[in-house]
Amino acid sequence: MTTKSKNVSTYKFYLNGKWIESESGRTIEIQSPYLHETIGRVQAITRDEVDEAIYSARQAQKEWAQTSLQDRAHYLNKWADELVNMEYEIAETIMKEVGKNFKDAQKETVRTAELIRYTAEEALHMHGKSMAGDSFPGGSKTKLAIVKRVPLGVILAISPFNYPVNLAAAKIAPALMAGNAVIFKPATQGAISGAKMIEALDKAGLPKGLISLVTGRGSEIGDYLVEHPGINMISFTGGTNTGVHLAKKATMVPLVLELGGKDPGIVREDADLQEAVKQIISGAYSYSGQRCTAIKRVLVHESVANQLVALLKEEIEKLSVGSPEQDSVIVPLIDDAAADFVQGLVDDAVEKGAVVVTGNKRKQNLIYPTLLDHVTTEMRLAWEEPFGPVLPVIRVSSDEEAVRIANESEFGLQASIFTKDIDKAFSLANRIESGTVQINGRTERGPDHFPFLGVKGSGMGVQGIHKSLESMTREKVTVLNITN
Ligand code: NAP
Ligand code: G3H
Repeated sequence: MTTKSKNVSTYKFYLNGKWIESESGRTIEIQSPYLHETIGRVQAITRDEVDEAIYSARQAQKEWAQTSLQDRAHYLNKWADELVNMEYEIAETIMKEVGKNFKDAQKETVRTAELIRYTAEEALHMHGKSMAGDSFPGGSKTKLAIVKRVPLGVILAISPFNYPVNLAAAKIAPALMAGNAVIFKPATQGAISGAKMIEALDKAGLPKGLISLVTGRGSEIGDYLVEHPGINMISFTGGTNTGVHLAKKATMVPLVLELGGKDPGIVREDADLQEAVKQIISGAYSYSGQRCTAIKRVLVHESVANQLVALLKEEIEKLSVGSPEQDSVIVPLIDDAAADFVQGLVDDAVEKGAVVVTGNKRKQNLIYPTLLDHVTTEMRLAWEEPFGPVLPVIRVSSDEEAVRIANESEFGLQASIFTKDIDKAFSLANRIESGTVQINGRTERGPDHFPFLGVKGSGMGVQGIHKSLESMTREKVTVLNITN
């Protein structure tokens, strides 16, 4: 799957069961965010190659749709086994390519194997239904509808850089299990990890054509893929701007979009502050805040704000900062542009009067964990997603104000509420516009069988194992008309 020159591997792309070099003759260099050197090259494939991948997928899918669920589950379980066999190699690739610390990269790989196995099991236990005609007024017993789920055809799976294996497999596994073929377009920074994951699927012996790995910049091949008439459904995870762009391009195909977030951590005056701090620190700063579900703003009641900020400061200053190879929590951001963007948000807030409690220090793309207090709604940081280790604290005087500011956001992925009053927690949860509300816990996607969704600018449709299987199939109704 690779060729080597000057110790740097060039990864081929995967088309119809073969690893090949693109006829474009062009490759894209992948720079490690912390080694600051080229760690590999991936193919910049052509439109003709995209056509070929989609054509192969369409051919292969016809037969795949006829295979038994048990057979499909066999391939998926084998894939999970191969991922586990490759655990260290894949974790190292994730670490080098996207700068995730080794322990978390390893967790991502194992979590992916578990997700694949659960997906196979879940699909084995999904059943259709039958409906009698006479349950509708005037209907007749002579009609019986048999409702089953059938595959959609070819699924386009587009994944982001921050979970290059897990978020890709979260699309590929349900798509395959449901009888579809897949065109997998990884984030360019993440494409080597994606290639390793496909290598595991290849080792599992998946019939050729069912999956193709198409590499190339989204800006070059993205629109072509999305608008391609051979695609029957798109499952996309990434930034809101990209998602909105894609939604305008795609016509008459179902879309599931998991996009950005600005998850609030609401701390009421009666919260267990020690526990809230533990959850907020882990929620906001893990992998330098490069998680869609990171806590990206704290809305704290003014009566406990000083205490909360002091506790947060103490814990933030204990966070390890540096190399992913040393399992640091705070690692360099994906690239310099990402760090510039985060710095711009901090500078804007400081200029407008926010108080730096700790941090606001930077070495190239390494942003030290930063806590800003007295952030106001006039500052960009109150609204924009940094995707970096910077947490704004907004002081509020009531639950109503917290809910209002939480809901004024363009995003609606998740929210956390920290309180000892469970009735209040439910009443606030009901009023918050987000896909999920966590009570006394950090915002997070897992466990992976829970439904996972964003509302407003955070997405459309639902992921989570069962929901993904549903979104990658449609109902097919056969009506039996009983004649005597
Ligand atoms: P991104 O820049 O939006 O890229 C996501 C994917 O879209 C990449 O594979 C990218 O390819 C591709 N792409 C770019 N332009 C495209 C086009 N015109 N058509 C089709 N595909 C195109 O996002 P990112 O920087 O990788 O990830 C960070 C963002 O994702 C954050 O906003 C984060 O909150 C969000 N995210 C959301 C979730 C969720 O589940 N809600 C999960 C993870 C991340 P290239 O890399 O080649 O440009
Ligand atoms: O980055 C977005 C992911 O969906 C977040 O997953 O909450 O498990 O870190 P996580």
